Amino acid sequence: MEKRKIIMDVDTGSDDAMALVMAMLDERFDLLGITAVNGNVEVKLTTMNSLRVVECCDKQDEVKVYKGCDLPIASTLMPWGPQATQMPGFTNPLPHREGTREQSIQVHTDHLPLPVPKIKEEPESAVVFLIKTLLAAEDGEITLVPVGPLTNIAIAMRADPRIIPKIKEIMIMGGGHDVNNSSPAAEFNIWVDPEALEIVLQSGCKITLVPLDATHKCFMTVEESERIRAIGTKPAILIADLVKQRATGYAQMDAEMKALNGAPLHDALAVCALVIPEVLKNVVHVNCHVDISKGIAYGQTIIDQRIRVNPTPKNCYFAFDADKDIFVKWMIDVLEKDKAKRGL
Ligand code: BDR
Ligand code: CA
Repeated sequence: MEKRKIIMDVDTGSDDAMALVMAMLDERFDLLGITAVNGNVEVKLTTMNSLRVVECCDKQDEVKVYKGCDLPIASTLMPWGPQATQMPGFTNPLPHREGTREQSIQVHTDHLPLPVPKIKEEPESAVVFLIKTLLAAEDGEITLVPVGPLTNIAIAMRADPRIIPKIKEIMIMGGGHDVNNSSPAAEFNIWVDPEALEIVLQSGCKITLVPLDATHKCFMTVEESERIRAIGTKPAILIADLVKQRATGYAQMDAEMKALNGAPLHDALAVCALVIPEVLKNVVHVNCHVDISKGIAYGQTIIDQRIRVNPTPKNCYFAFDADKDIFVKWMIDVLEKDKAKRGL
């Protein structure tokens, strides 16, 4: 079986942690490296959390972690993190992410509930790793899976555009059409660094956006996560713990999730879509651009839905829906297979 070569670009983060577990344990992937970026928490913490997940999956001899950009390309809206508050001219005039750091902390903690990692990140920066790895690859060989703000990927593309033809496709968790979470118009990953997604959308690569519209259909309940906990391996227990943590956080801000006693696991859905494309439903080839005008809609993913004789060129696939049953089954199957493989 030929494995799909991927690089995970993450802001770990509870759902990033689950995405990483699945990318490491699903045997259909050859995970070439993990690049961390500023997002859910500051980059030194997203890097450290990624190292924790690598150790939790016992992959420290195979999978390396690279620390990436600590600030977005142009935006200064990040509402938390010492790097943001220390920035000269930091302003946040717009309505932003629902709730406060205190509320959000229940969905993403600074430190994942895992031991301090023994391993360290690589000395090279994430952007250098991306450029070197892609330049050494054949055309169309490597798939990128950004599930945080797209800063690392956009800067790598700008620094050396020769990497662009090397990319097979880019599966992005980000954006929203009818569902948003960081401003009335924008989803978090894109809201943090709107210019970065716009650069990536203009690259000409094959791009799929897995937006909140899809991820909110693929929530997991605490009850379902208990089936995962019962598998009993370290990664399975981590996932169950994180679902519980996320469900507690979502219960404070989302009446629907409170009633369901669950939470969306956004980033893991993007990983699933690479091995089981049918998990995404109502995937439409669209023209999509990001609002970078720094107004009320800064960071909005805008789809051109005008009826026209000469439509604007389509530049990405946008998933409006997803299949929860396929998603939950995938997680259970991969985790059980990993257990069997390790003879546990
Ligand atoms: C996205 O934002 C982050 O908080 C999550 O990790 C996910 O990538 C969802 O809007
Ligand atoms: Ca993320």
